[in-house]
Amino acid sequence: MKQRPIGSRTVSAIGLGGMPMSIEGRPDRERSIATIHAALDAGVTLIDTADAYHEHASEVGHNESLIAEALRSYGADTSGVLVATKGGHLRPGDGSWTVNGRPEYIKAAAQASARRLGVDAIGLYQFHRPDPAVPYADSIGALRELLDEGVIEMAGISNATIAQIDEANRILDGRLVSVQNQFSPAFRSSLGELEHCARLGIAFLPWSPLGGITRAADVGARHDAFQTVADDRGASPQQIALAWELALAPIVIPIPGASRPTSIQNSVLAVDIELSRDEIAALSRDA
Ligand SMILES: NC(=O)c1ccc[n+]([C@@H]2O[C@H](COP(=O)([O-])OP(=O)(O)OC[C@H]3O[C@@H](n4cnc5c(N)ncnc54)[C@H](OP(=O)(O)O)[C@@H]3O)[C@@H](O)[C@H]2O)c1
Repeated sequence: MKQRPIGSRTVSAIGLGGMPMSIEGRPDRERSIATIHAALDAGVTLIDTADAYHEHASEVGHNESLIAEALRSYGADTSGVLVATKGGHLRPGDGSWTVNGRPEYIKAAAQASARRLGVDAIGLYQFHRPDPAVPYADSIGALRELLDEGVIEMAGISNATIAQIDEANRILDGRLVSVQNQFSPAFRSSLGELEHCARLGIAFLPWSPLGGITRAADVGARHDAFQTVADDRGASPQQIALAWELALAPIVIPIPGASRPTSIQNSVLAVDIELSRDEIAALSRDA
C-alpha cells in the first residue's frame, strides 16, 4: 500500500473511518471486528475514530473500544497502526451532536480515550469541532498541555477554517500535524483548507470522502464525470472519488468509513489508480 506522512509517522494513503460501525444503523460487533481486520489485512495503518462515535448516551467511546478490541484480537503486530481519535463532540443520545471545548473537559476526555484504547499515549488526538462558547485558543491550549504532558503523541484539529489552522499551529508551536475537514465530490468548500495544508505540509484528512454514509452509494449517479472515469477504467465511482482526492495534494489521506469488509477492501484499491491530468481536471470541474 502506498504511504503518506502524518507528523512523525508514515501511514497508508487510505485510512479507515470508524463512524459507521458505531452510530445509528451500525452492524453487529462481529461484522465490525471483521471490517477492521479486513482493513489491517489490506495494509491500512490509519484508523480514525472519536469518543462521540456511539449511539446511546451510556456508551461513550463505543467505537474506540471496538477498535481496541479488534487490534488486540488481530493476531499479528499492530504497532505500526496509528489510531486517531477526537474529543470535543458529545452525543446526548437523542441523535443530536453537541460540543464542549472547555479545556478541562478536553483534557479529561483525552485521558478517558487513552484508557479505552489501552495506550499510555494516544497516537493522534484531534479537537473535533470548535465550540462557539469557548475561545478557540483555550481549547487548543488543552491540546498543547496534552502534548507537553505526553498524554498524546501528536495533535490535530477538525472542522477548522484557515484562520483556525494558523491559530492552532501557532499555539502548538508548529506541532499541528493534521486537519480533518469534510471534503468529497459533493462537498468541496474545504478546498481552501486542503490547499493551505499542502502549503504548510500538514496532513489533510477528508471526512465523508464519499459524500457520507447515506450518500456514498450515489457518487456515480450524482457526478457524471466520476461515473465516466470509473467506466473507462473498470473501477467504481467511489474508487475514482478517493483517487481524485489523493491526486489533489500529497498531504491528502482520505478516511472512508466502512461497516463491511468489502467496502474498505474496495477503497484501498484506489491508491493504485493514477489519474491523468485531463481526468483530474474533468473530475474537479464536476461539482
Ligand atoms: N471530523 C468530523 O467531524 C467527522 C464527521 C463525519 C465523519 N468523520 C470521519 O470520517 C469517516 C468517513 O466519513 P463517513 O463514514 O461519514 O462517510 P463516507 O466515508 O463518505 O461514506 C461511508 C460509507 O461509504 C460506504 N463505502 C465505503 N467504501 C466504499 C466503497 N469503496 N464503495 C462503495 N461504498 C463504500 C460504506 O458502506 P458500508 O457501511 O456498507 O461499508 C460507508 O457506510 C467517518 O467514518 C469518521 O471516521 C469525521
